[in-house]
Amino acid sequence: MNGPQVRVRTPHDLRRERRRRPRSCWDHLVAAPLWPLHGANLGTLLRTCDAVGACLAVPRLPWVPEALERGNTLRHPACVHWTGNPIRWLQRQRDRGSAVVGVELAEESVRLADLPAARRRTVMVLGHEQTGIPGEALDLLDLAVEIPMVGTGSSLNVAVAGSLVLYRLAGLG
Ligand SMILES: C[S@@+](CC[C@H](N)C(=O)[O-])C[C@H]1O[C@@H](n2cnc3c(N)ncnc32)[C@H](O)[C@@H]1O
Repeated sequence: MNGPQVRVRTPHDLRRERRRRPRSCWDHLVAAPLWPLHGANLGTLLRTCDAVGACLAVPRLPWVPEALERGNTLRHPACVHWTGNPIRWLQRQRDRGSAVVGVELAEESVRLADLPAARRRTVMVLGHEQTGIPGEALDLLDLAVEIPMVGTGSSLNVAVAGSLVLYRLAGLG
């Protein structure tokens, strides 16, 4: 039996489909891992942000710039916003009219499949790798979203969870 004819696109094909030049700031969609523990997750999220046309918001912690530099395997600078106090920064986003969507395993969470694409500027908040989104920040969410799981693990890697939700919010997934 013959299977479908599959031709993998070449790097040349792919380059023709992509943007010629990076945009310095997309701003419609912002991924916010505001309490990061592992630098590798920031690098993974940075790549997803580029793929879906989102910016990354990170706290000004001493180790974060180097983690981003190491994780940015693209050949151009990425759109990164720096936050001082994460709670105050989140409150400011809300005050300026952005929707704040938390990616969290919460009682009130909607399932990923029911999450609509972002219709206005949206900040997607991710939790700390061990302790999740702090209570003070949960109070600032407009909506929480959960990725359903059927396996034995209690949660996904934070960069994987963030990437799945980003695709949905960007209307690409
Ligand atoms: C390892 S989880 C934290 C686990 C748990 N909240 C805790 O306190 O132990 C780290 C972050 O990944 C994200 N996450 C992981 N799996 C998820 C899932 N299935 N649905 C939604 N968010 C998830 C959330 O942002 C969460 O705060």
